[in-house]
Amino acid sequence: MHKEEQLRLLKGLIHHLDAKTNIDAGGILRTPADTYTSSERFEREWDTFFLDHPQIIGMSGDLPKPDTFMTTEDFGVPVLATRNSSGEFKAYANVCSHRGVIVEDVKRGEKSKFSCPFHGWTYNNEGALIGYPKSDQFGKIDKDCYGLKELPALEKFGFLWVHPSQDGKIELDDLLGKDLMEEFGSWNFQDLTFANEEEYQTEMNWKLAIDTFGETYHFSVLHKDSLFQSFHGNCQMFDSFNRNGRLILCKRTIDEMRKLPESDWDICSGSLPVYYLFPNIIFMPTPEGAFLVKEYPAENSPHKSFSKISFYFYPHVLERIKELEKTGINGKELLEEQYGGFASVIRDEDYVVAASSHRGLRTGTLDYLTFGKNEPALHHYHNTYRQALGLQSLPLEEA
Ligand code: FES
Ligand SMILES: [Fe+2]
Repeated sequence: MHKEEQLRLLKGLIHHLDAKTNIDAGGILRTPADTYTSSERFEREWDTFFLDHPQIIGMSGDLPKPDTFMTTEDFGVPVLATRNSSGEFKAYANVCSHRGVIVEDVKRGEKSKFSCPFHGWTYNNEGALIGYPKSDQFGKIDKDCYGLKELPALEKFGFLWVHPSQDGKIELDDLLGKDLMEEFGSWNFQDLTFANEEEYQTEMNWKLAIDTFGETYHFSVLHKDSLFQSFHGNCQMFDSFNRNGRLILCKRTIDEMRKLPESDWDICSGSLPVYYLFPNIIFMPTPEGAFLVKEYPAENSPHKSFSKISFYFYPHVLERIKELEKTGINGKELLEEQYGGFASVIRDEDYVVAASSHRGLRTGTLDYLTFGKNEPALHHYHNTYRQALGLQSLPLEEA
């Protein structure tokens, strides 16, 4: 992020702290309760945002070198993503062209050939069928017609996008917009190294999981003994970039940072940026690395979802870990505990109330959920979401 923008955002937080104010959306917004519970709505979301929308499947660091791969089946289409021997990112439907079996079922690893577990047809990491056993008895086929089906794939700014549909398009100008592309170009997300991934299944609509990241109004209550110890609650900045948003959460370290000359201020030392990448991604860069949170519906139901929370480190952190290890300290374990601690707050605090909210919604007691003036990221997300489904925007109501 450019220095000027970092200063603008950090000064905005300091202003709110001193004036005891928070960001103000100018009104409240109410979203109908069936946004989260309607089966008909769910079908439309699934078709529009998952089967027919580019998906961020991970970061460049998930495929750290040539001849590595990862698989995912989070959005309906099984995907085999590879970094080929020349280092290019590629994606294929992970479906054997013989009889449709999932070819690779390991989540990630290093290899350049993939053999189907049924009859052993083998593909290389460019999707080509390179052999099938007992070819004389099986019969002669044109191997060129039996490769894995290639899916559109794009690697940029350290993110990996795949389109689930073979003829889908991944247009970054549309997805991110010029300003966010420029901002992402100023980070170094391509250097991030994958460290770990946690997966949580929860009985709630997938958007309730997204909503929990959209405000810090709840920090002093829900996270009183956890995140509130290191964040000032109810203090944030927000900007939107097309369908995406960026919240800036206020870390308590800002109290020390503000005493330094502005040239020493850094967005990650005084705040936690939270990028909302439409439709289902939350991305949070930190001084040590980043969290990537992916939210998906589960079991074709509006009432179930799963979250994948992955964390990544920068090389300088890994170097520091190596140094620590020379002194007998398990540095990696220390860092993973710290990151795992964050993930468990999300699981044990945020997702618990989000699931509770879903139970409440299913009772039919409420007609609406209400987002306050101090929750503009949720206003933006929900109206963007509605616009993407061709629904009427929700009006800002005076409050
Ligand atoms: S289904 Fe894959 S080899 Fe037969
Ligand atoms: Fe939270």
